[in-house]
Amino acid sequence: MILKKSNTEDIPGTIIFNGTRAIKGYALNKMCFSFNSAENRDAYRRNEDAYCDKFELTEEQRQALKHRNVRELLEAGGNIYYLAKWAGIFGMNVQQIGAQQRGMTEEEFKEMLVRAGGLAMARVIGGIATSHVPSIGKAIARRLENDPLWKPFFDGYKPVHAWLDEVQPDLAVVVYNDHGLNFFLDKMPTFAVGAAAEYKNADEGWGLPVVAPYSGDPRFSWHLIESLVADEFDITTCQEMLVDHAFTVPMSLLWPKPGRHPIPTVPIAINTVQFPLPSPARCYKLGKAIGRAIESYKQDIRVLVVATGGLSHQLDGDRAGYINKKFDLLCLQKMVNDPEALARYSVHELVRDAGAQGVELLMWFVMRGAMTGQVTEKHHSYHVPISNTAAAVMVLENKTAGSDKWLDQSLMARL
Ligand code: DHB
Ligand code: FE
Repeated sequence: MILKKSNTEDIPGTIIFNGTRAIKGYALNKMCFSFNSAENRDAYRRNEDAYCDKFELTEEQRQALKHRNVRELLEAGGNIYYLAKWAGIFGMNVQQIGAQQRGMTEEEFKEMLVRAGGLAMARVIGGIATSHVPSIGKAIARRLENDPLWKPFFDGYKPVHAWLDEVQPDLAVVVYNDHGLNFFLDKMPTFAVGAAAEYKNADEGWGLPVVAPYSGDPRFSWHLIESLVADEFDITTCQEMLVDHAFTVPMSLLWPKPGRHPIPTVPIAINTVQFPLPSPARCYKLGKAIGRAIESYKQDIRVLVVATGGLSHQLDGDRAGYINKKFDLLCLQKMVNDPEALARYSVHELVRDAGAQGVELLMWFVMRGAMTGQVTEKHHSYHVPISNTAAAVMVLENKTAGSDKWLDQSLMARL
């Protein structure tokens, strides 16, 4: 039974060199075994085809050898110990072999290894994007979550709560747009990063109750700021920052239990008030820089990236009340699988297709860009209308090398 288990290949990204592979790759491995001898290595260098002929390799094996592709050679039955002797003929070492298999540059691969042995590092555990319509805040204040009109909308957040319970983030970077509570036209930063110990909410004239302050994490904020500036994002730093409904409403939606706010937050405000606005591509790149910043923070914390705003809506002009469901559904899909294609949209096209205030989608691009690894969509829901807006929420889980939950769990169980 134990043997049988070790023969299965249910550990992602892992090849078990079992009997099936040993049979399939016998000739290939035999050839590689022959490269223990310098004489044979020279003979292979002189005439690869002739050397392969001697071992009666399959076409698949010959092609994989020609491609110098270790993944293909493993698929063709190669065993990594023997393949390494073959790779050595071309001066390839095991780090280069590793990088090739992971689709990384050698530098990236080395960096990953150094990180694994270094100090504990922060991780991006995932992202949540959600609408932030003020009327949601009013409904929460009036406890209307189970009201027949509101229930379908609020029910869309139940899977989000279940996911948050599971992943237990330690800190949230919250990307939102200020609607004229903290910033006025006298000074309008494109990107502003909070660096405060606490972020207060205040009366913004929208009829929402003022909520308790949110705790910050200045040490993390300054790391983020330093990293972003080093990455050529010349952001504005804010040691005082009032957060408006675009911050508070999503926080109440994600953590609905009244009382103290559960985790520290770092707000990042993106200008959507006064044109010119940053492009979707720029916001996506900012997200990437945020992801890099988080994962270079030397503390073992689980970081969630939250984006607020959207989807399609327009509050002003003859097109007030504009909703574009087709576009929204495309966005929800592309945001997961093809964000770079979506990021080719211009701001003008966003206004055209998502409405004037639909540019709040820019926040979603930042969140998506911050996902550093393999992204899985855990949930989304879409509800029209909430006030004038097509409301949506999306949960993306981010998996990087070494972030497997089973590893922690099985270690804990054994200790
Ligand atoms: C509405 C939507 C928003 O994104 C916002 O910031 C304010 C109001 C609305 O639809 O009412
Ligand atoms: Fe808004």
